[in-house]
Amino acid sequence: MEKKTILVTGGTGYIGSHTCVALMQAGYEVIALDNLYNSNEVVLDRIKEITGERPKFYQTDVLDKEGLRKVFAENHIDAVIHFAGYKAVGESVEIPLTYYENNISGSVNLYEVMKDAGCKTIVFSSSATVYGDPASVPIKEDFPVSTTNPYGTTKLFNERILEDVYTSDHEWSVMLLRYFNPIGAHKSGLLGEVPNGTPNNLVPYIARVANGQLEYLRVWGNDYKTPDGTGVRDYIHVVDLANGHISAVKYALEHKGVEKINLGTGKGYSVLDVLHAYEKACGKTLPYKILARRAGDIAECYADTEKAKKLLGWQAQYDIDEMCRDSWNFTLKNPNGIH
Ligand code: NAD
Ligand code: UFG
Repeated sequence: MEKKTILVTGGTGYIGSHTCVALMQAGYEVIALDNLYNSNEVVLDRIKEITGERPKFYQTDVLDKEGLRKVFAENHIDAVIHFAGYKAVGESVEIPLTYYENNISGSVNLYEVMKDAGCKTIVFSSSATVYGDPASVPIKEDFPVSTTNPYGTTKLFNERILEDVYTSDHEWSVMLLRYFNPIGAHKSGLLGEVPNGTPNNLVPYIARVANGQLEYLRVWGNDYKTPDGTGVRDYIHVVDLANGHISAVKYALEHKGVEKINLGTGKGYSVLDVLHAYEKACGKTLPYKILARRAGDIAECYADTEKAKKLLGWQAQYDIDEMCRDSWNFTLKNPNGIH
């Protein structure tokens, strides 16, 4: 059978790079596209170290429509997995227009170019943030959606835009994947998350406490209605998440329509659970201080994973200990990021 070709936008980023590896290992032809705003071309060499092959790469911005047209003119692309975008919640509140331009205008460019090229299969990176503060957990895909910051709004708008695209043309196949909290790194220690500046997210922050670059973890509140009072989230290993994309793209290539799917483990862990799992992984006691709640945070967020299991036949494999071990392995091997 002829290999299917998948264009991965944001292909050198954290989730994108792991997905390129998973796609290549599953027998797909991969074209990575990225403007390298939040990633480094060295990632492509790392992918080669793991898979034996460097994916074809375009250093292109999704805001550059002509650049996108060139990619589609030069290649036959069967489907697109669209990761490219900005993702910092706090920053999106400070510079909303930049977020709307990059995450919405850039995406609309991509969808237009896809339409013109006759490529109508897309897997989109959405987020559990579209559920806002859910009335209950676990969260099912048909729960009401709302957003509390521009970043979340860009995810929800993209979902709506792609639903409208499908309404206008039933030849489209659209997978809206709502990720919970991706953490961890590739087993090889070659790929992982490299936050810009001081991390906002829990595990990258703990990793820097563990390697001595930061003094202690600031735990944002212990007065939530959760077993130990700290916030509970559904952490998912980035390799599991990448594998979820393989199942999703396979499904999308075989079916038309729009599907919204949670990608999580279905299990919730508190901030202190994660800290303790990381202590086991790195073999050290990690200092922390309890501080006031962080604005905009919710108490609990974890996925109902039945739809992913039934529709895609996918479920997460790795547990929290392995996620922390792999994060620590990557941190030790790349103390200054990927260069
Ligand atoms: P990342 O920043 O590591 O990867 C995104 C990549 O997109 C980067 O390499 C960046 O250089 C590139 N990019 C940004 N703007 C671009 C543009 N205009 N043109 C071309 N490339 C551009 O982030 P990630 O964690 O891998 O996230 C990937 C996607 O998943 C994002 O859309 C993000 O919003 C979404 N998501 C992430 C999380 C998370 O916690 N990591 C959770 C839910 C959803
Ligand atoms: N936390 C701390 N200290 C820190 C960082 C985080 O106590 O230094 C706590 C938070 O209060 C929260 C939990 O750890 O209870 C997880 O926080 P993260 O910042 O790691 O993740 P969030 O759940 O807040 O947000 C993430 C992504 C968003 C995405 C959202 C839903 O960053 O982009 O999941 O998918 F929208």
